[in-house]
Amino acid sequence: MKYPLYVWAVCALGHVSEADVGNFSPCLNFFYQYWPPKGLEGTPICQNFVNKYRFASLYSRERRSPWLSAYFFSPPAGKRPKGSWKYEPQLANSRANGTMLPFPIPPHKVDQNVIESQAVPDDYINSSYTRGHLNPSLHHTDHTDRQATFTLTNVVPQKEGSNQGPWAALESVVNKMLSLYCVGTAYVVTGIIPYRIDRWLKDEHRVAIPEYMWSAYCCPEYSQNLPESLRKTFPTFAAIGRNDPDSTEEIVPVDRTKKKNLGFDVRRMTLTDLEMYLRERYGRDVTVFSQQCLQQE
Ligand SMILES: *[C@@H]1O[C@H](CO)[C@@H](O)[C@H](O)[C@H]1NC(C)=O
Ligand SMILES: *[C@@H]1O[C@H](CO)[C@@H](O)[C@H](O)[C@H]1NC(C)=O
Repeated sequence: MKYPLYVWAVCALGHVSEADVGNFSPCLNFFYQYWPPKGLEGTPICQNFVNKYRFASLYSRERRSPWLSAYFFSPPAGKRPKGSWKYEPQLANSRANGTMLPFPIPPHKVDQNVIESQAVPDDYINSSYTRGHLNPSLHHTDHTDRQATFTLTNVVPQKEGSNQGPWAALESVVNKMLSLYCVGTAYVVTGIIPYRIDRWLKDEHRVAIPEYMWSAYCCPEYSQNLPESLRKTFPTFAAIGRNDPDSTEEIVPVDRTKKKNLGFDVRRMTLTDLEMYLRERYGRDVTVFSQQCLQQE
């Protein structure tokens, strides 16, 4: 009896370490009702920095970039921290403790196993894309929470016209709305929509480029004195932003009267509409929040 059991145990352990490195159980609190989005498959990362879980990401090893990040919103304070970029050692080595670490400063080299397992600063250098945060530094009060967003597993290739333009404006609008009208916890999930046929940074087949970014928030407890114009935007609302001026316009139309950042429009929409577009592109149901975030607490 002992021998088969031993073999089974070794195989099971081997399988776990090869298939994946973690799960969301230590950081389920970042998801509304402890319920991570359903319908996307990837590697869960509980983003740990300075001995604390700061947010959660669902990471794609194939794309070397995240499907989504989930976090609590808190009003920003102080200056944006200087970006000291970090990586997740546990992606390259399943025995690592899961705390994000700063990339080595040149001339020290990044470990080859890390280069295989995720995006590194060189991937973005000389590309025509910026490092687009899914969980933005601007949506946090605490300085260390803000520093923790500078990890490349929270980042996707984003055109500057989006990152510095309409997408930044969306982050700022959400910041104002949640600061003014969200009374309890505001849960935010921000993710990407891939191209139908993947495109890669510098055509290197390492880091996949998203065609769109999306974001949705769930604020179950909100002010009873909402202005009429904001009634439809609580408890939940969403948006999709273009990351490619040449994309077709079925999902997000282009405002051609704009002079700046033409073609990087963001369209705000209901959670239901967002999930419809996610279903169309992913070819299966994608559910962002438990019970559509409709439950009033
Ligand atoms: C994890 O490892 C890093 C780097 O070796 C270290 O700085 C950190 O203190 C460790 N954290 C825990 C909780 O052991
Ligand atoms: C960026 O381009 C410069 C000039 O062509 C080149 O010297 C450098 O090695 C490139 N760096 C990366 C990381 O691709």
